[in-house]
Amino acid sequence: MLTSPSRFRLVVLGSAAGGGFPQWNCRCPVCSLAWAGDERVRRRTQASIAVSADGLNWALINCAPEILSQIQAVPALHPREGSRHSPVNAVLLTNADIDHVAGLLSLREAQPFTLLATPAVHEVLRSSSAFDVLAEGVVTRRPVALGESFELVEGVTATIFPVPGKIALYLEAREEAETGSLATDIEGEQTIGVELRAGDVRVLYIPGCAAMTDALRDRLEGADVVLFDGTLWQDDEMIISGVGTKTGARMGHMSISGENGSIEALRQVNVGRKIYVHINNTNPVLVDGSKERITANKAGWEIAQDGMEIAL
Ligand code: MLT
Ligand code: MN
Ligand code: ZN
Repeated sequence: MLTSPSRFRLVVLGSAAGGGFPQWNCRCPVCSLAWAGDERVRRRTQASIAVSADGLNWALINCAPEILSQIQAVPALHPREGSRHSPVNAVLLTNADIDHVAGLLSLREAQPFTLLATPAVHEVLRSSSAFDVLAEGVVTRRPVALGESFELVEGVTATIFPVPGKIALYLEAREEAETGSLATDIEGEQTIGVELRAGDVRVLYIPGCAAMTDALRDRLEGADVVLFDGTLWQDDEMIISGVGTKTGARMGHMSISGENGSIEALRQVNVGRKIYVHINNTNPVLVDGSKERITANKAGWEIAQDGMEIAL
């Protein structure tokens, strides 16, 4: 009897950057559309994806504050046997940002899984005792080295690699006090990208990236799918939206547009599907029919939304 070959599946659980969309306290032009019920925008939760090669065993990459509603929205992630069960076997973190780790506090119900991160990110979680709710002996904390390949979940191999970025926002004050400076585009254990392989399929997840490098461009070449940092349309977006003083560069995110933006950086790179994820609530690509959305689409980019599923 022939069994059908298993397929790689990826579900975008959340597609927004830190704060979600609309953000609870924000009246920027794009959030204002959402609060007014404008049909050109739809709500988004904070960034996370789920991946599987057999549809039964799943890994999460990052764990957003909305993880409970994200799991509720995706039937494949519901418990399905015995009195306690979860199809989620592993959680891999790409950095220690609140939007990527806060959901771990909701996975505390004595359910075994493996928590994978670089040693530096594990260290950050260790220094915050709230995460001790992920009890020793229940949740296995496994450090992964940069460049290491490992089985993330049945049939899916992951390789992690550094991308330019910075430490989490809540660590900045201490870092600046101790060292007198703050790097926003260091390549190390603070911020990583993930390369996923299942059979011939190769997919990259890079929700935060401060700058394009030749090494990163080479790695993306020929991929089936790249999900990439779509935080900001332009570097001064928070400022012109009237909601902040920080540039994208200061936040460790390269913009979509402009000569140093990701559209230009990846224009010549041959990738099956290019998809923006981790989209900030100020970003006009969130608006159906906006000129920025049209520009991104014309350049070959899709804009992720919650629940988007990719099967290869
Ligand atoms: C980021 O991606 O820059 C962070 O999620 C910012 C934040 O924590 O709000
Ligand atoms: Mn973020
Ligand atoms: Zn906003």
